[in-house]
Amino acid sequence: MEWGMQNRINRLFQKDGKALFLPIDHGYFQGPTHCLERPGETIKPILQYADGLMLTRGILRNCVDPAIEKPIIMRVSGAVSVVGEDLANESVVTSIQEIIRLNASAVSMSCFVGSKYENKSLTNLAKLVDECEDYGIPVMAVCAVGKELEKREARYLALAARIVAEIGARVVKTYYCKENFHKIIDGCPVPVVIAGGPKTDTQREVFDFVYDGMQQGAAGVNLGRNIWQTEYPVASIRAIQAIIHKGFTAQEAEDLYNQIIAGKA
Ligand code: R5P
Repeated sequence: MEWGMQNRINRLFQKDGKALFLPIDHGYFQGPTHCLERPGETIKPILQYADGLMLTRGILRNCVDPAIEKPIIMRVSGAVSVVGEDLANESVVTSIQEIIRLNASAVSMSCFVGSKYENKSLTNLAKLVDECEDYGIPVMAVCAVGKELEKREARYLALAARIVAEIGARVVKTYYCKENFHKIIDGCPVPVVIAGGPKTDTQREVFDFVYDGMQQGAAGVNLGRNIWQTEYPVASIRAIQAIIHKGFTAQEAEDLYNQIIAGKA
């Protein structure tokens, strides 16, 4: 692997090979998402615990201090909305020049395998990979399900993850699933990170699925709402960080979470 590509990947994945990415890109299709109305304020207390920040160029430029030391994963697909016809009908909305100008360490785009726009989506991925590989910039493919949340099961996610890796994604983001999550990992030749999905009822559910996903071979998480939409975002991200980088179990993470809330850690 070329030096630039390896260097960027090493900035994202820590020495243990694991990563905690913090996505705040939700506004790109759903507007001012709850708790993300002012993204700069949302990330202030929690960014220090993340290994990378995922967002669009608009939020980067307007809400993030250029002195930031964390690597940027720039979302470059979009031009759809929750009130539009079909979330899968995305285009790439950021040029390679802009990606370089804004010093992104990686880019990400959604891929809608099995949708009406499957071919467009995957062709967009292929073009983006070609452009980014020229400059040593890794592409993280997001296995997106749009509004079809029932697609979050191993058979579909393994298929989608493998296809985007075959096209050239250097990192794949998929959802976690309770049954056979390892099949997604087993069939994917590049690191897989887990997306969080909508906020869960309890914090423990998050610790459980992050722990189980890591045990089954995930390289980390790309977790947003289950951090910054929770009552205690700092306690939440620190507990998740402990699972990812310190090998904590879900119970140990929950204990740490409670200690942080009580001001004892
Ligand atoms: C979708 O809006 C984005 O790609 C998010 O980055 C992704 O869904 C992860 O965020 P969350 O953990 O909130 O689902």
